[in-house]
Amino acid sequence: MTGDGIHLIDRKEAAARLPEFGDLLRMALAAQHRARAPYSNFRVGAAVLGGSGAAFPGANVESASYGATICAERSAIVGAVVAGETAIRACVVVTPTADPSSPCGICRQLMAEFGPDVLVFSASSVGDSVYAARLGDLLPLTFGPGNLAAASSGAARE
Ligand code: THU
Repeated sequence: MTGDGIHLIDRKEAAARLPEFGDLLRMALAAQHRARAPYSNFRVGAAVLGGSGAAFPGANVESASYGATICAERSAIVGAVVAGETAIRACVVVTPTADPSSPCGICRQLMAEFGPDVLVFSASSVGDSVYAARLGDLLPLTFGPGNLAAASSGAARE
């Protein structure tokens, strides 16, 4: 189901919306093959586009202590930040579902660090469907850096 600002499109339309989509999709599909998912068997690949224009891959890495698992999107963001990126422009995530799976809440929350305009493309690795949305549409009324800043300026007044 799509909500306001969330569009179900195909790969061609995604490339029309973001010229780097094709390269990011290829990177995410390659990363999906390297996913470590022995428990869920649900392999996810991701690629993020940094502010510099460079792209960074990610894949889910599962742990026998299940809660220690990291999702593909967050692993890509970590790689981008460690490489020196301070902005994230877009994230392409691929899941092995014909109806593409959208990023989980924790990944949306980490993306929110980079602002509501991050473009999120959830693509199927077994079909042509893609959900396209701004992060702000996937996670409205987000708790973010602005909330912390607002509280500290309030404390300074007390
Ligand atoms: N997973 C991701 O990599 N990204 C998401 O947004 C949702 C879930 C992974 C975590 C776990 O390894 C597997 O998919 C099943 O939940």
